[in-house]
Amino acid sequence: MRMYDIIAKKRDGGTLTREELAFAVNGYVDGSIPDYQMSALLMAIYLRGMTDAETAQLTDVMAHSGDMVDLSAIRGIKADKHSTGGVGDKTTLVIAPIVAACGVKIAKMSGRGLGHTGGTVDKMESVPGTRTALTQEEFFRQVNEIGIAVIGQSGQIAVADKKMYALRDVTATVGCIPLIASSIMSKKLAAGSDAILLDVTMGSGAFMKHLDEAVELARLMVSIGTAHGRKVAALITDMDTPLGHNIGNSLEVAESMEVLQGRGPADLTEVCLQLASNMLYLAGKGDLAVCRAMARQVIDDGTAFEKCCQMFAAQGGDTTVLRDPSRFRKAACARDLVADRDGYIVANDVERIGNASVLLGAGRIKKEDSIDFAAGIILHKKLGDAVRAGEPLCTLYADDEALFAPAAEMYLGGLKIGPERPAIPPLVYARVTCDGVERF
Ligand code: URA
Repeated sequence: MRMYDIIAKKRDGGTLTREELAFAVNGYVDGSIPDYQMSALLMAIYLRGMTDAETAQLTDVMAHSGDMVDLSAIRGIKADKHSTGGVGDKTTLVIAPIVAACGVKIAKMSGRGLGHTGGTVDKMESVPGTRTALTQEEFFRQVNEIGIAVIGQSGQIAVADKKMYALRDVTATVGCIPLIASSIMSKKLAAGSDAILLDVTMGSGAFMKHLDEAVELARLMVSIGTAHGRKVAALITDMDTPLGHNIGNSLEVAESMEVLQGRGPADLTEVCLQLASNMLYLAGKGDLAVCRAMARQVIDDGTAFEKCCQMFAAQGGDTTVLRDPSRFRKAACARDLVADRDGYIVANDVERIGNASVLLGAGRIKKEDSIDFAAGIILHKKLGDAVRAGEPLCTLYADDEALFAPAAEMYLGGLKIGPERPAIPPLVYARVTCDGVERF
């Protein structure tokens, strides 16, 4: 078999066999296929697409390119969730403890933030002392004992994805549904959970800008997971406005604790309840109404918040900051951005908000960049809100005053104040299961 022929077949619109996909992917991982040939294949896939069966086979080959985690030593159903990325998206910190408090095991690997989106592992590490790298034995023991552990993804999971994603990032081949689906699902299948809930974000802060493409991505990922014997569903959620008000690592942890204590912002609370109920549903806890009531109950009676504190304590974290977020280290400087006129927020580009927060030090541009856990943004006005001239739109936090000007320019460049209140998008657009698509 020759890589040249595989590239030519896809270039001409052919369907690759499992053997051809395995030859290309495994050869790329072991170094026998160079970057330039894999780049050509990725571009051919980008332009020609893949059949669903072909994407499923690519996913399987990628999943098997590293460790396939065997969670059978953990008793009971294990549930996982994955978000395709967002700004202010702190849902894992809320729903993982809710689901664990309802008796479903969470043995979860999460990622770090890159570009304008944040990552759960960075948020967790903003709690002083928290370890996100556990040995397999520690990980399994913690999940068996307290029902939940969230750790960083090991370098040995879906090794092909790691290499291929880095190549896609520099060859303009990220935004391709079969490649995104196989990238995400290879990691989720390798991570071993029985039930997988996918949060497919849509809007100015997400990969998917339109409902039809978000539904298509969700449908494909659900079908791949189902074909591998997992219980999988997806919610298409809005990312035309950040979830909640806080963006930045310790700011987001603080807001998540508010939700877990029943006093969080309505939008974030509602999305978390819908995600948590769907995870519980996939784990066989009852119909959606029953699962929602269970999720609500563990917030109201405090057991979800206590489960979260238990998890952080088990991983070495200082839970006093969870119980009293005013104890988090504060940024040295704060600056309000104010409205220049009366009206309504008619646009507030989420990618720009995320990039502004990165410029303040809350995220990384390159993998090796360090993070300022206290940096970020608190939004006072969001899409659709009325504002008066001079009223604060948001507060920026950083350790250096010099960071405010570029961050303000980035933020304000995506903001429009107009005379009419705009239509507000729904929080959740659709639910996709193996039975079909339900649009709301
Ligand atoms: N997230 C991933 O893990 N992979 C993609 O290709 C896109 C988003």
